This record gives sequence, structure tokens and C-alpha cells, in this order.
Amino acid sequence: MQDIYAVIEGNFGKVVVRDMTQNLVTHAHSQIQLSYWLGGGSANCRVGEQETVFTDGLITACNSYESHDMVLTVPSESVIVLFLYIDVDWLDNSGLGSGKPIQFSRAQLVSTPDIKKLSAILMRKVLSSTEVDNLGVEADVKNLLRLTVEQAVTLTNVSNAHIRRPMPDYRLRLALSYMRENMACVGLMGHVAHVVGVSRSRLYELFFDEIKSSPKVIWNSIRTDEAMHRIATSEDSMAAVASQLGFSSAGNFSRFFKANVGVSPLFYRKMMTPFTRKKPQIFSIIYTSTATKFLSHQELDDILKSARQRNEKYQVTGVLLYADGRFMQYLEGALADLHEVLEYVKSSKQHCELEFREALPVERRAYKNWSMAFVSTSISPAAPLLMDREMKGFLYQSRQRA
Ligand SMILES: Cc1cc2nc3c(=O)[nH]c(=O)nc-3n(C[C@H](O)[C@H](O)[C@H](O)COP(=O)(O)O)c2cc1C
Repeated sequence: MQDIYAVIEGNFGKVVVRDMTQNLVTHAHSQIQLSYWLGGGSANCRVGEQETVFTDGLITACNSYESHDMVLTVPSESVIVLFLYIDVDWLDNSGLGSGKPIQFSRAQLVSTPDIKKLSAILMRKVLSSTEVDNLGVEADVKNLLRLTVEQAVTLTNVSNAHIRRPMPDYRLRLALSYMRENMACVGLMGHVAHVVGVSRSRLYELFFDEIKSSPKVIWNSIRTDEAMHRIATSEDSMAAVASQLGFSSAGNFSRFFKANVGVSPLFYRKMMTPFTRKKPQIFSIIYTSTATKFLSHQELDDILKSARQRNEKYQVTGVLLYADGRFMQYLEGALADLHEVLEYVKSSKQHCELEFREALPVERRAYKNWSMAFVSTSISPAAPLLMDREMKGFLYQSRQRA
């Protein structure tokens, strides 16, 4: 069967749909990993010291840096899995743990009909995703996590105290940051023990006590994460990436990568390229409207404040002109993002008689650094006046009237 590796990335981390055709060696990630069985055969996993199975109705949860592997039950039968790789900081701020960090106390969780339904929806979104319709995935991920966390808590019947993630030992934090800064260094473990001020055996104990993984597995995971990042975001050759990460040859690097990630570095680059390099087409749209009443500076400020916050989130830029009780706004961004923002614009009670021009593709943004520049006849413009004729005419006419 052909390898599938479809991915959507977001602030939360990434969602990956994989057809697992080969075993994975013991490895770990800085991100929390949740695996939802979608179809195919089954696989056995060891997560820390627990045994889990990828099969219908079960979910496997790995905490940050918890070591895990995967062995197909029948080597010729691949297993299709939806993986969530969740950024720990994002999860801590997501409100899902009632403000407390989430730590899964069991590696094997049971799926519910709602979880199955949502993971199937996410799978379809990931497999059919194009750049513009990625929106909504973050909300789906959050819902799936909420259901999974609830399930984990109900299942294990634990209080919130059990899902707290303890702050790792400072020596462990030091060891992790040293590994990240010296990931290409051969014979690293001796150095790490020295830097942290403990013996090699104590270093291993520390890792097992705190994160149930060996320092070697963690070092490999740091190198794997970095390799994935470099392969996806740079144009460096595989040989160059191999040497940057301290591998003696591209062949060794390729074997290492395949054993940890499940696909070759070249395949990974091919799959990731559309998501990381291809920029979405930028469109611009202009509309005019009439203020429903006289707007004070404060009211205009309030509109701008909320507009800027949202535009930043959706990477929409542009300029708002206000003159003589009339607005003209120029917005630019990816089509799906523009649609999101325009919903808010249209629903505002501060203006009416909205007249939209057709959305047009643009080569590049004219207001790259402006989440919403503001120009009014009464407030001196600080924004770049890269306006087209129509916008200049709008201001000119209102000045004539004033
Ligand atoms: C003239 C005008 C321009 C706006 N521009 C934006 C914008 O660029 N991005 C955005 O997210 N919301 C925009 N909004 C919506 C406001 O940020 C805010 O959501 C809205 O004014 C609140 O609704 P309300 O005024 O009915 O209370 C705009 C609203 C108005 C009146």
C-alpha cells in the first residue's frame, strides 16, 4: 500500500493522518501525542512502561517526552491512524485542563462514539485540505481533545490533581536545553552529565524518574524534531541536513529518520512542501459604508482595536478610511481569512449600506505591516498612503464636502 502522510499544522501543533506500513523504534516528542485508530490492521505500542494497542475503539496517549514505539501486529497489514501532536504551551493555555497542565495518567484510553465521529471528520479534513480551508481545524482539535481528556479523567476516575504536569527537575531542564543547543555533538551523554553535575548513571535515573525516557531517546527525539523542521522549511540537501545534525552520512541519517518517523526524509519533504512553502494567494477587497450615527474618537478607537486584534489573528491587513460619516475599507489576506473577518464587518451595527467591490487577487500585500491602518480627514494619517485612485477619490470628495 502507498504511504499516506497528510498533515495540517496550526498553533496547536499538527494533525497527521498516517497509513503506518512499518514499525517505529522507541522515540519521543516534545509535543503530546494522541493516536486515534481509523482503520486497517492493528499495532502494539509500548508507552513508557505501559502496553497499548492501536485498534478499533482505543486511543493511545503519550505525554511530552514520554518514550513510545510501534510494532505492527501483522507486518503486511498497515494501520491507519490519526495523530494529534499537541504543543504543550498551547494546551496549557487552551483552558482544557481548567487552567491546570494536562498530563495523561494512562496511555490507553477508550474511544466514544463522539470521539470516533470527530476523528473521522478531522481525517477527512486533513486528507482533503487545501491551504484555504484549514480554518476550523483548530476548533475540531480542541473539541477532540476536550472529549479525550474528559474520557481519560472519567475512565481513571481521578481528580484534576492527577492530570497536573509536574515541573521537571531543574537539572533535567538544563540537560534538555544543552541537548537542544548541541544536537550535532557526538558522544553527548558524557558532556550532558558533566554540565548537569551528575554521574552518567544518575543522569539516566533522572530521565527515567522524571519523564520515563532515556536521555538517548530524548536526544534522538530532539534531533528528529529538528530534522523534520529543517527538511520541511529549508531547501538544504539531505546530505547537508545530515551533517548539520551530526550524522556521518546521508544514508545513516535516512535510516535514522525512517525508523523514528516512519517515512524517508525525501518522502517527508515531498509531503510537507505544500504546507510550508506554498504561500496562499492573497486577495484584496474594498467596500464603502455609512456610519449609522456620529462616531466619537473613542468609538472609532474601539472599532479599530477589535478589528486589529482579529485581523492579526487572521493575518488580514489593510486600511480603513473615515471621512464625513462614511467609511471605505481596503482589506487584504487569504480568501478564507477575508471571509472570516468580513463576517464581523458585516454584522457591525456601527455602519450600514455596505457596498462591496469584487475581491481581486494581488501580487503582494500593500499594507504588510498594518493590521488596520486608519486614515480620517480629522486625524492625521500615520499609515502609508499606498492607496489606489478610488481610495484617494473617496478622501478627496469628502474633503471637498467638508
Ligand atoms: C467600519 C468598520 C470596520 C471594521 N473593520 C473590521 C476589520 O477590519 N476586521 C474585523 O475583524 N472587524 C472589523 N469590524 C468589526 C469590529 O471590529 C467589531 O467587531 C464591531 O464593530 C462590533 O460590532 P458592533 O459595532 O455592532 O458592536 C469593523 C467594523 C466597522 C464598523
